[in-house]
Amino acid sequence: MIKINEFKKVFEDESEKIFDSLGVIDILNDSIKYSFFSGGKRLRPWIIYNIGRYYNIEEEILYKIGFAVEVLHTASLIHDDLPAIDNSDYRRGNETNHKKYGEWAAILTGDLGFILPFKILSDNNLSKLNSFFSEIIIKLIEGETLDIAFEKKLFVPSKNQIEEMYEKKTSSLFEFCFSYAPFLKDNYNDFETLRKVGKSFGLAFQIYDDLKDLYGTFDEVGKDLKNDENKYTLLKVMDSIEAKKYADMLFDEAILSLKKLNMEFLVEELIKIKSLIERK
Ligand code: IPE
Ligand code: IPE
Ligand code: MG
Ligand code: MG
Ligand code: MG
Repeated sequence: MIKINEFKKVFEDESEKIFDSLGVIDILNDSIKYSFFSGGKRLRPWIIYNIGRYYNIEEEILYKIGFAVEVLHTASLIHDDLPAIDNSDYRRGNETNHKKYGEWAAILTGDLGFILPFKILSDNNLSKLNSFFSEIIIKLIEGETLDIAFEKKLFVPSKNQIEEMYEKKTSSLFEFCFSYAPFLKDNYNDFETLRKVGKSFGLAFQIYDDLKDLYGTFDEVGKDLKNDENKYTLLKVMDSIEAKKYADMLFDEAILSLKKLNMEFLVEELIKIKSLIERK
């Protein structure tokens, strides 16, 4: 098991090499690299790497899958920050992509980041993941759509509908990160269990994120705060203490399933990571 801080450096070096090999025109290349290398936690590629090692997948391949997922994550954030979506000026402590390069470039850079992952997977004999990965991305887009539809009061969501929105916009990508390896190896029991781990982990993750929007500081969070004031988050239907308890319960559920799968190696570091992502 590699710790997330050590992983971050190696992953970023590997990602730099992949970007260099792509040969995309400078305008797009500069813009996507600006957002990609602006200091994310690299949590999703770190999960991918460690789970993949456990299932004996070659290291080189794991950087490719991690890169594909992190590019998709970056693109989803570029679009999430746009004036028509969340209208955010800061991300990871820096100006958002559209503030730096203009809205037109941010839209096109996001477009690139939604399709590039499929090129990476296909070019590395990983087309088996294409259908699963597309299903995940469709969910992410549905989740983002519901988030804004609620905000625009197209309809008032129930608590279950808010959770469904979280599962789609945030959990789905974590489901992929935890379960893609048994999927590749046709191990359907582990696949189902790890998919559920990703679902609970993602829900907890989004609740911690919402709590930070309300109570975090800019130095800690690096993005616009109180951005969720007009949104239907779970914090509109439960108070902060209840929400924190619920997130902790979901996080513990994910940890327990990992322990049952003998993935103790992940648990210790995930608990440390929890202190990075939960409200201080
Ligand atoms: C932010 O994700 C988007 C949400 C799903 C809440 P992260 O908190 O993982 O963002 P980075 O990549 O570390 O900046
Ligand atoms: C998650 O929601 C974003 C995506 C899944 C793309 P948020 O809108 O809460 O994420 P942040 O707070 O801007 O990072
Ligand atoms: Mg959003
Ligand atoms: Mg946002
Ligand atoms: Mg948020």
